Amino acid sequence: MSLVSVGVGNGEKERIFLEALVKKNLAETPVSEKAPIYYYPIDINSEFVDIALEKVENLPVEKKGIVGFIEGMATLKKRWNSPTLFCILGNTFCNYEPEFILQLVRENLEQGDLFLFDTNLFPAEGSEGQSAREAILGAYTSRENTLFNKYPLLQYGMNPDDFDFELLLAPVDSRIGSLYRTSKKLHILKDTELIIGEKTIDFRKGDIIRMGFTYKYTCDQITAFLGTCGFEVLKTFLSEDQANALILAKKRV
Ligand SMILES: C[S@@+](CC[C@H](N)C(=O)[O-])C[C@H]1O[C@@H](n2cnc3c(N)ncnc32)[C@H](O)[C@@H]1O
Repeated sequence: MSLVSVGVGNGEKERIFLEALVKKNLAETPVSEKAPIYYYPIDINSEFVDIALEKVENLPVEKKGIVGFIEGMATLKKRWNSPTLFCILGNTFCNYEPEFILQLVRENLEQGDLFLFDTNLFPAEGSEGQSAREAILGAYTSRENTLFNKYPLLQYGMNPDDFDFELLLAPVDSRIGSLYRTSKKLHILKDTELIIGEKTIDFRKGDIIRMGFTYKYTCDQITAFLGTCGFEVLKTFLSEDQANALILAKKRV
C-alpha cells in the first residue's frame, strides 16, 4: 500500500501510521512475498517535505517527497500506485469547501484506495454549542492568533495600528443545512504603501483583505457530506473528549 499525505506538514502523524504498517507487514507477510510500502509526503512548502522525509529516515519504506498543490491531485496521482491510503490531516480538510475537496478526492481515488482525514468537531446544537462557539472565538481571537494572522503584513513593515484583524464565526447555508464557519479579515485603517521585493502595493483606508476560513462541523454533518459526495464511511475514531474525529472512508460504488 502507498501512503500519500497531502499538506503533510512535519509528517509526525504519518510516521505513526507508517510504523504500524511496517509492523503489520512484518507480522503478516512471508519474507518472499513482501511488497515494499511507499510513502509520498506532499506539501506546497518544500521545507515541510524535507522535514517529513527526515522523520521517517530510519523506517524501511520507499519514500518520495513531492512539492505540490492538492488542487493538482489529478497530475500528482500519476506518481503513485494503488492501493493507496490517501491522507489529509491536521484539520486541513476544514479549510476547504466540503463539496470541492470531497469531489476532488473522489475523482482521483481508485477502487481499493482508502481516504483518511481528521477534523476538529463542533458539538451538536444545544447548550454545548454556545460554549463551543465561545471557546472557538476565544482561541481564534487570542493575542497569539491575532499576531499570527497579522504577521504577513507586519513583516513587510506595516504599522500594527494601521490595520485590524477581525474573526467571525457565523452560520452559512449548505446542501445539508446550516454550518458554522470562521471568516477572517484584515481591515486597512490608513493609506499605506508596502514594498515587497520589487513590487509596491498600495493599500487604501477601507480596503479589506479576506483570508482563509475553517468549517466547524458536527460529526453528523461530516458523515452527511461524505454520503452525499459518494463516500462510504468505514470507521470513525472519536477522541475521548469527542472534540476530534479521524474518519476512514472509501469511494462508494
Ligand atoms: C494545517 S497544516 C497541517 C499540517 C500537518 N498535516 C499536521 O497534521 O500537522 C496544513 C498544511 O498544508 C499545507 N498546504 C496548504 N495549502 C496547500 C495546498 N493547496 N496543497 C498542499 N498543501 C497545502 C501547508 O503548507 C501545511 O503544511
